[in-house]
Amino acid sequence: MADLDDLRDGAVFGEGVAQKTEGFFLKGSNNLDWGMKDRMSRIFNPKTGKSVMLAFDHGFIMGPTSGVERIDLSILPLIEYADCLMCARGILRSLVPPTSNKPICLRSDAGSTILTELNNNVIIDVQDAARLNASAMAVMVSVGDEKTEALTISNLYNAVDAGQAYGIPVMGVTAVGKSMARDARYFGLASRVCAENGANIVKTYYTEGFEKVVACCPVPIVIAGGKKLPELDALELAYKAIQSGASGVDMGRNVFQSDAPAAMIQAVGAVVHQDMKPEEAFQMYNDLKG
Ligand code: 5RP
Repeated sequence: MADLDDLRDGAVFGEGVAQKTEGFFLKGSNNLDWGMKDRMSRIFNPKTGKSVMLAFDHGFIMGPTSGVERIDLSILPLIEYADCLMCARGILRSLVPPTSNKPICLRSDAGSTILTELNNNVIIDVQDAARLNASAMAVMVSVGDEKTEALTISNLYNAVDAGQAYGIPVMGVTAVGKSMARDARYFGLASRVCAENGANIVKTYYTEGFEKVVACCPVPIVIAGGKKLPELDALELAYKAIQSGASGVDMGRNVFQSDAPAAMIQAVGAVVHQDMKPEEAFQMYNDLKG
């Protein structure tokens, strides 16, 4: 029982001062529940509305590909520069220090590798995502792929149902396959399908006409980096995506396969959060590298 001695009547009611009802800073996210908004605000910086997500989930389908052979040596030193970490649960539990205190976008579909049928996946148990304190669950969606389209779209909406129960946002990750055109029409369609099925964030690829992809997607879009490019080209890619309305990047290879990954992720951060021009960011990269 609380001490009830000297219980004072309230006196400061601020009559005449309207209670502020703030909107939420992220596109399409105003009607989310508190826990969802809290997690989204951990992923996206509320001051800039943007995020630099560091993706190192590649091993879950590719094994120890270049740059992720030793996560402890190559990725952990980069964590301090990332706003959010995207990885699979095995790497999270075995190698990522919980004390790093970074929001986690958990790779939440599993079931195939590059050796077999890609995207023939199921989703992991949302309770495990909750145990890991995931800030989002990432689920691959292969729109346009005859064999796996239906399965991956049902994975997405099942993940959204499960995420709703725990307040965990879902990121729809648009796949690129050999049969899929890599243009604004395709990415616009795939991104919209993810959002319509309930994705709170969409990850897709930058392409010519990206403004349209962003405009018709009602939730924040982040772009993947894709295959390794020369650093200036990768910074240009990030710049063009941000200037076209992307809410951030979820980059892997263009960071961890760079000659100077720590310098590169900081330069990407300047492009994303400060609208730094690619040439200036490249200079920053070279200065930090030096
Ligand atoms: C694949 C992914 C990867 O995380 C994604 O492709 C990001 O990495 P990169 O920038 O190397 O393309 O989601 O499903």
